[in-house]
Amino acid sequence: MAPLLAPSLLAADYGNLQAEVERLADSAADWLHYDVMDGRFVPNISFGPGVLQAVHRHARQPFDVHLMIEEPQNYLAAFRDAGAASITVHYEACPHLHRVVQQIKHLGCRAGVALNPHTPVGLLEDIAADLDLVLIMSVNPGFGGQTFIPNTLRKVAALKELLDDCGSSALIEVDGGVTLDNAAALVEAGADVLVAGSFVFNSPEGPVATLANMRAHLSASIGAAEQGKG
Ligand code: DX5
Ligand code: ZN
Repeated sequence: MAPLLAPSLLAADYGNLQAEVERLADSAADWLHYDVMDGRFVPNISFGPGVLQAVHRHARQPFDVHLMIEEPQNYLAAFRDAGAASITVHYEACPHLHRVVQQIKHLGCRAGVALNPHTPVGLLEDIAADLDLVLIMSVNPGFGGQTFIPNTLRKVAALKELLDDCGSSALIEVDGGVTLDNAAALVEAGADVLVAGSFVFNSPEGPVATLANMRAHLSASIGAAEQGKG
């Protein structure tokens, strides 16, 4: 499967969110990544379901909602109603993770679990088969524009193996510090979805051209890897 690209609106122009999602409509973006922060689980505050509902109306791609909040179970329906296609909660924020995952699925959304950089993938062994998505944080959550943590590559490969062993078809998503320097290696390690915020929105070429570059770069490197195997 060609990797999916999910630009993060955390790095978009908040004064022009309608224009930001409209200009992505015909871009290489597959999903729009929406980062929710509560100032408690992470030391930053972003946006909630009200803003999602407002921008969702103007967007063509599905919204991939990443909840970096405590007690996410209290807000799942609000984000579904606001337009979330997938909802990802943090392993570290959910003592009753199995119940939360079932709640997300009952709402009709794709259910994801995110792991902080220090959280081992092995902790997902008993829930992997229930998941639609696993998000590997490649920076500490809370802020855009941070440097990619190299151990993520090893972690993605280990997760890929665990999902195969559990017969899970969950997608592997990587979030934080993703650029053209690490995108192909992440896909090679097993990533299915790449989130990118500042690299896409702060590039001199602008988000549409940058996403097109990422898509072309990934297609070329996947083609080369397949030729090498053959
Ligand atoms: C970080 C967020 C990310 C963030 C990524 O806590 O979860 O989605 O937007 O931003 P970059 O790509 O700038 O690291
Ligand atoms: Zn995110």
